Amino acid sequence: MQCTTRQALTADAAAACDVVRRSIIELCAEDHRDDPRIFERWLENKTAANFEAWIASERNVALVAERADQIVGFGLMDLSGVIVLLYVSPDARFCGVSKALLSALEEAAMAAGVRETKLESSNTALRFYTSAGYTPDGDPRHEYCGTYCHPMSREIGRSA
Ligand SMILES: CC(C)(COP(=O)(O)OP(=O)(O)OC[C@H]1O[C@@H](n2cnc3c(N)ncnc32)[C@H](O)[C@@H]1OP(=O)(O)O)[C@@H](O)C(=O)NCCC(=O)NCCS
Repeated sequence: MQCTTRQALTADAAAACDVVRRSIIELCAEDHRDDPRIFERWLENKTAANFEAWIASERNVALVAERADQIVGFGLMDLSGVIVLLYVSPDARFCGVSKALLSALEEAAMAAGVRETKLESSNTALRFYTSAGYTPDGDPRHEYCGTYCHPMSREIGRSA
């Protein structure tokens, strides 16, 4: 079943937070190696209250992906084109959810006059962003006491 994307509402905060937390724990083992000290640091700011604030902020674009009326993905970008969060539910992996969210965020960036989107990829998502046209933009950085973030960027408005 296809997913659709739409602007997130503050009422989506708890469900979106749950999807992101599950995505980190269940899908990003290549990064946190099932070490609770690492994923607990990663999850620290992933609270429903923070999601509500991020969704409500006029400085952000926040999107959810839905399938059969369930939230199965969440994407957050600031208006300078920095993609801060992009996560899919483990129940909807490899069904086009992250692709749909990434392309909707890039469209929103273009609409805001931004010409380049930037992000920091997990190890888990590196292949995904590379195939979406992102290239390395600086050295990998240590994060959460044990994972690597890979700075990447893409000139948008060009095909991937
Ligand atoms: C890897 C991931 C980002 C892909 O997103 P998705 O919504 O599951 O999948 P989509 O159908 O939208 O995208 C498919 C793409 O994923 C990539 N992909 C496919 N199989 C893969 C695999 N086994 N491992 C990693 N990437 C894979 C490919 O690039 C594929 O595109 P292509 O077939 O055109 O080459 C996602 O499954 C994931 O693990 N997310 C974890 C959260 C995360 O790390 N988010 C980024 C934080 S910076």
